[in-house]
Amino acid sequence: MRVMPDWLSTAIFYQVYPQSFCDSNGDGIGDINGITSKLDYIRETGFNALWINPCYVSPFRDAGYDVQNYRKVAPRYGTNADLERLFEEAHKRGMHVLLDLVPGHTSDQHRWFRKSCSTEPNSYSDRYIWSRSVWDRPEGYNWVSGNADRDGAYMLNFFLSQPALNYGFSRVSDPSWQIHYRDKRVRGSLYELKDIMAFWLDKGADGFRVDMADSLVKDDPDKSATCWIWRKIRAYLNKHYPQAAIISEWCNAPLAINAAGFHGDFILHHDKKMTDYAFYRKGEDGASRAYFCKTAHVPANDMLTPYMRDLRLTRGGGYLCPISGNHDMVRLSSFLDERERKLAFTFLLTQPGLPFVYYGDEIGMRYLPQPSKEGGYQRTGSRTPMQWDRNAPNLGFSTAEREKLYLDVDRSADAPCVAQQMEDEDSLWSTVRALNHLRMTRPDLQADGELRIEECTQHGTLCYQRGENTYVIINPTDTVQDCRTKVGRILFAIGGATRRPTVTYLEPQTAIIFEKEDYKEEV
Ligand code: NOJ
Repeated sequence: MRVMPDWLSTAIFYQVYPQSFCDSNGDGIGDINGITSKLDYIRETGFNALWINPCYVSPFRDAGYDVQNYRKVAPRYGTNADLERLFEEAHKRGMHVLLDLVPGHTSDQHRWFRKSCSTEPNSYSDRYIWSRSVWDRPEGYNWVSGNADRDGAYMLNFFLSQPALNYGFSRVSDPSWQIHYRDKRVRGSLYELKDIMAFWLDKGADGFRVDMADSLVKDDPDKSATCWIWRKIRAYLNKHYPQAAIISEWCNAPLAINAAGFHGDFILHHDKKMTDYAFYRKGEDGASRAYFCKTAHVPANDMLTPYMRDLRLTRGGGYLCPISGNHDMVRLSSFLDERERKLAFTFLLTQPGLPFVYYGDEIGMRYLPQPSKEGGYQRTGSRTPMQWDRNAPNLGFSTAEREKLYLDVDRSADAPCVAQQMEDEDSLWSTVRALNHLRMTRPDLQADGELRIEECTQHGTLCYQRGENTYVIINPTDTVQDCRTKVGRILFAIGGATRRPTVTYLEPQTAIIFEKEDYKEEV
């Protein structure tokens, strides 16, 4: 039996990008107190858990994924005390908070790295991966040479500013510069990692989303050495922090959950993953082949095959985490129109495991192409300020002058905003809220309820059962579709269905959640 945090199976997550969520002190950038001030909004929308992107001291060459001090909140976001207060206020509301943990690399401004650069051997010399000499850049990795007096090139994990921490090599082909992952000389990174986790868990954090979780041990093709490290971390958490959760950015659930011991693993938009088939997929002609695109008319099979397999393989061990989007992807609204997104959310929020909704997706915020900021590059367009109220300065994000804003807000006349959508029963926000509240009150729909496919037609109709007696039927297409499933007592509906003795006709773009009326007789 695996130790699971008690709160996890009912969690519905909301991802907050701190610089763009809410600015409480008018300096143009979002902050921790701003997030705290919006906890009631998040809760009211039906989310009871948060993941906050990195909020630590950083030179922000990769928006905070280049950490300079793991134990200190960046001054632009506030103080450690502010973050502790956020944890407290979240807990008061029955909510849980995950921080972002970046274990694979630090900023090149980190104190450890500065020490590692020294020509004098010291306790940080092996904390990063160095080649034998500045002229030596072994193939297969990215190196920086000539940036330090130490005679060696250092390995990167991501951008130029992000040197890889040294967790060793799974296979040591050249011991003159590689260290085996079980060697004591690379234990330092692991000890620090545990210590950083304990630091924040002791302050009230409920766990971590783990950045590039698969990237720790080098030359580890089957990831068995990287998994060994994570199993150690999980054993440590089980023992000392059994209520803490770790969710991996890995996108390989059987490995991340079964072999590495994560409580959950994201389903990212990678090729042939469920969220790719559902929301983003394009054909060779550039036209959408996404399941939820009304004109695509693709059966749900392609989307379900890899997904059902991962679900089966990880059942009982941990949770798949399907997402609406994140800070690395073009926003969902660029791929699906509003009705399509309502159906897509019906699907996402009725899946087992742990759904994650990216801030602003619940109101259909747009991707706004613009120059790169803080290493965002094309991702910057998905990171613009949250749109609270059409009638407030800067849409309610900040009281700062426009030029001072971290990124400008959506200035279009019809920019979707929270306040306006809250007043509209038909808005995307109202749909998301209704779905979340249904999930919250119906154990069938939560993480542990089984998913069973009841019907899946060539034309795109999909019906599935969740838990004991909750069914979801979806016709994502722009035409009427027939199916065998009889719709019972309706709990939630977009569109409608007509029942005939042997067949049900589903209106175009319909999604219905229902229970079978004869359920009691069936058991
Ligand atoms: C994945 C994060 O989501 C992304 O934003 C970041 O740039 C890289 N990891 C590097 O940390």
